[in-house]
Parts: sequence; C-alpha cells; structure tokens
Amino acid sequence: MLIPFNKPYLPLSSIRYMIQAALSGTIAGDGKYTALCHRFFEEQFGFRKVLLTTSCTDALEMAAILTDIRPGDEVILPSFTFMSTANAFLLRGARLVFCDTLADVPNIDPDGIEALITPRTRVLVVVHYSGLACEMDRIMAIASKHNLLVVEDAAHAMEAYYKDEPLGSIGHLGAFSFHETKNIIAGEGGMLAINHEPFLERAEIIWEKGTDRAAFHRGEVEAYTWLDIGSSFLPSDGMAAFLYAQIKRFRKIQRQRKWIWWEYHERLAFLEEQGCLCRPVIPRDATVNGNMFYITLSDRLQRDTLLDHLNLNGIQAVFHYFPLHASPYFKEKHDGRELPNTRRFSDTLLRLPFYYSMGKREIAYIVEKIREFFTSTPAASPVEPEPPAFRPRFPEPVAQPRRSL
Ligand SMILES: Cc1ncc(COP(=O)(O)O)c(C=O)c1O
Repeated sequence: MLIPFNKPYLPLSSIRYMIQAALSGTIAGDGKYTALCHRFFEEQFGFRKVLLTTSCTDALEMAAILTDIRPGDEVILPSFTFMSTANAFLLRGARLVFCDTLADVPNIDPDGIEALITPRTRVLVVVHYSGLACEMDRIMAIASKHNLLVVEDAAHAMEAYYKDEPLGSIGHLGAFSFHETKNIIAGEGGMLAINHEPFLERAEIIWEKGTDRAAFHRGEVEAYTWLDIGSSFLPSDGMAAFLYAQIKRFRKIQRQRKWIWWEYHERLAFLEEQGCLCRPVIPRDATVNGNMFYITLSDRLQRDTLLDHLNLNGIQAVFHYFPLHASPYFKEKHDGRELPNTRRFSDTLLRLPFYYSMGKREIAYIVEKIREFFTSTPAASPVEPEPPAFRPRFPEPVAQPRRSL
C-alpha cells in the first residue's frame, strides 16, 4: 500500500466556483468570492475583521507591518516553527529572540518569556503547533503587563479553541494558512484576523499596496491613492473561489479530519502504554482541530529509523522543524542560549500521513507498521545481550530522502 503524506481534498465545485469567478469579469482580488469567504470566517468565528492573503507568510508580513516593528525592536518567538514566523519580522529589521517550548507540548513556554523581555521588546509571536492552543491567558497577561502586542501564528489552528475562544482571535492579530496541507485549502493561501480596533483601517490599506482601493471598491472614495506602505497581499478571486468550495464543506471536512486524529490517537494508545512512543499531549483548555497527527520517539536515531521503516513500507511520514535558532542562517546571530525542548522536539517528532480521504484501512496499516517496527527491534528482543539502547534490525534505507515539511 502506498500512503502519501498529503492528498488535497478537491471537491468538483472548486472548478465550478473558479469558472464562475473567471466569467464574472472580476477575477482580480477583493471580488465576490473574497467577500463570501470574509463573511464566512467573520460569522463563523466572530473575528472582528479578516482579510484573505496569498499565504500565511503574507499574513504574518502584514502583521509585522501593522505592529510597526522598526529596526532594533525585539520580537520574542518560538524557535520550533516555520521560517515565515521569523522572516516576517526580520524583514522589518527586528531582532529575533527565540524562546524554548514546553517540555510536553511543542508550544512556546510562558515561563521562559518574561526573562527575555527587555525595554526594546515590542511583539510576542506564539504558534499554536498542530492546532493545540498555547497558554493564552498567561501569554496575554504577560503581554499586557509589559505592553506588548501579540501575534498568533494560527497557520495550523483553523477551528481550534482555547477556553471556547477561537485561536487567532485572542491576540491583536492572527495569521492562518490555507496551504494544501492545512484543514481547508486554496493551494497556497492565508488570512489575517484583525482583532485590535486601531489596526482595522490600516490593515485594509496595507493589504491593497498601501492604497485605499478597498474603500474605493465600496464606493466610499472617488479615487484611490497611495497612503501608506503595503504590498499586494490580497489573492485573486479565483483563489477565493477555490477556498469557497472548501468552506461550503467545512463541517464535513472537519468531522472527517477530527475522526482521523482520534482514530490515530486511539489505535496508538497501546504503543504509548508500552513506552514505545508518545502521542500528542492535549493541553488543558485546548481542543483538537484535526490539523495533523504527530508522535514523538525516544531520540533522533529511533525517529529517523522509524521514518525510514515507514518510507520503505510505502508510508510517507515526515519530520520538521529544524530549530530556527540553530539554522545555518541564524546560528551566528543567536545569543547562544540552549533551547533543549526545541531540540528534543526537532529530533524526535514524526508526522504521520494526514488527509481527508484517509480511512480505517490506511490508519490500521500505518499503526501496524509502527507496531512491527517496535516488535522486531533487537533492543526489544530478549536474545540481544547488550545495548545500544536502540538498534533496529531494518536494512539501511535505499536512496529514500527523508522528507521534512
Ligand atoms: C507555523 C507556521 N507558520 C507559517 C507557515 C507559513 O504558511 P504558508 O505556507 O501559508 O505561507 C507555516 C507553514 O506551514 C507554518 O507551519
């Protein structure tokens, strides 16, 4: 059986809506489908205002402009994240200060944040890894005490909650992704939720190349003009039409993705009980949104060997993230602090295939291959006299590059 890591869910209506958008005569941005998507997210989750973007990367770059980050300002963020979280602020000249994650959840450790705050700290960026909520009460309290702005990188966190509050709506700004591996997709795509009143008007201007073209479209001004910095952050209405097809099936997609998550969780319980692996820890006050499923292993060797074993059996499992503070680009700029939990998650985390059309058969096969790995290792065998603590019996993988996402 061949099980890809991801298979985009493509309802036929995507094509219908995209053709309709093309034939409407306004395939550029801020058209009918963009408005429909905006209305859905605002009504469904109570976001004050949202703007579709061409990616979460763009939404984060808008957030960095809105927070008015200037060269030398400090931004605290996790090292265990995608580079877009960091790039957005670096592009504005920020000094990045990386914080470690919690020991049991790959989310920023609120206990670590306060020690990193200096008079130059302006923004705190949090990432709700795999849609599991960061400790937002504590984070917002720290931000309010030190007068910081909070940006939620909610790339993974569509329809995820913290104490009944949708993620992305708690900080001053929330950035979402509709990349093809996310819950609902537009190929590439994203969205910025603007929760802070003073940002509302400026956000729309930055979104439209620094102009009031959105107000012009609504008939509020006679002509549009250049008012601020900005970029072309808005997607074409064709992309919004594609996303709209997903939105129309939102409940169905979410029901299926949450089912997959809990099916993995349940079927892997016995391996956790046997001490072979750890399933995700669901933080108190967080919910499961069916974004991805990951397991953690005891060390990097074990993770990589299991990855090879799964790949050799046709299962496209992957790993991520390389810690940003130790990346080739940043390691010389980092202040030298060890971030041990980040390192451990980076070394031991493994993501299992996760897509809408997965069924019991695929999940059962994946779990069986993981079980097989643990039952056939020399370390688990009574005839193996000596450690190493873990030495798998599988053949060396044949030219199968490990995939990181
Ligand atoms: C935590 C996080 N932030 C931001 C991004 C960037 O999202 P996009 O690909 O939509 O730009 C990703 C990508 O997966 C991510 O994992």
